[in-house]
Amino acid sequence: MKTRSFLSRRAFTGLASVAVLAMASGPLFAAKKLTVGFAQVGAESAWRTAETDSIKAEAAKRGVNLKFSDAQGKQENQIKAVRSFIAQGVDAIILAPVVETGWEPVLREAKRNKIPVVLVDRGIKVSDDSLYATLIASDFIAEGKMAAEWLAKKVNGKANIVELQGTPGAAPAIDRKKGFEEGIKSQPGMKIIASQSGDFRRSGGKEVMEALLKKHGNEINAVYAHNDDMALGAIQAIEEAGKKPGTDVVVVSVDGVKGAFESMVAGKLNCTVECNPLLGPLAFDAVEKAKAGQKLAKKTIVEDKVYDQATAKDVIASRQY
Ligand code: AHR
Repeated sequence: MKTRSFLSRRAFTGLASVAVLAMASGPLFAAKKLTVGFAQVGAESAWRTAETDSIKAEAAKRGVNLKFSDAQGKQENQIKAVRSFIAQGVDAIILAPVVETGWEPVLREAKRNKIPVVLVDRGIKVSDDSLYATLIASDFIAEGKMAAEWLAKKVNGKANIVELQGTPGAAPAIDRKKGFEEGIKSQPGMKIIASQSGDFRRSGGKEVMEALLKKHGNEINAVYAHNDDMALGAIQAIEEAGKKPGTDVVVVSVDGVKGAFESMVAGKLNCTVECNPLLGPLAFDAVEKAKAGQKLAKKTIVEDKVYDQATAKDVIASRQY
């Protein structure tokens, strides 16, 4: 009996010191705060800004210490950012790669340092897919096809199309082109008469469209832009050339940003294929799973929808980006 009470006194003293320690240094078994590096492409479009905001907001919500880098559209800046995250010993890296190729060396460095890399929105080409934990993205080929099918219906299979491409070498530029070409393959009356890059920027879309209108003039009756920002720039160029976008020239694009919905309601943009940029929650779920050693699917595809002038006004108020 005596021994027992002696033991329980010792146990109590032990517990009391644990409690004092816990009070001094916060909850004893609280999870370690994660530090995550986010290597972003840049701020070339409204879509990109919405993606950045989504990742930042989700990091704040989960108490993650986020290190953010804007590569200003240059792969070399992104590689530097990833190297610096590795040197700082981050727990994980979220990477939205500018282009598809050239990632192997830096991703090997991340792997050697046991830092999981979660790819968001754009895929890459690597010989070893263990170099990244997972990719969370839309199916860009499907987006291009959806745009083509919508346009083919709208113009009854007959159009001279100019294509405004995204950044050369970027997955959405490559795949949206491929998907659109597949989508018009069975339509001999649908011809791409010119195709040039506007770098996913509104200014790029406007400049390219101005030049193409000078060269092809009334020949052009449709525009397919790889993103809404370029489409909105092209719409400005069409108006400045004295034509009516949405009527004289049918304009189709991809993204589904607020400005695209406003333009559809105004009768200028005809159609946009949504590409959801709100990837923060999925990205941090993946980071947490990777850190917990759980197996991740190599790719998670985000579902997209087509919106046109007929549906835009019903949904514009509920758009989140
Ligand atoms: O990778 C997604 C694309 O990149 C978006 O369509 C475009 O707006 C962005 O810049």
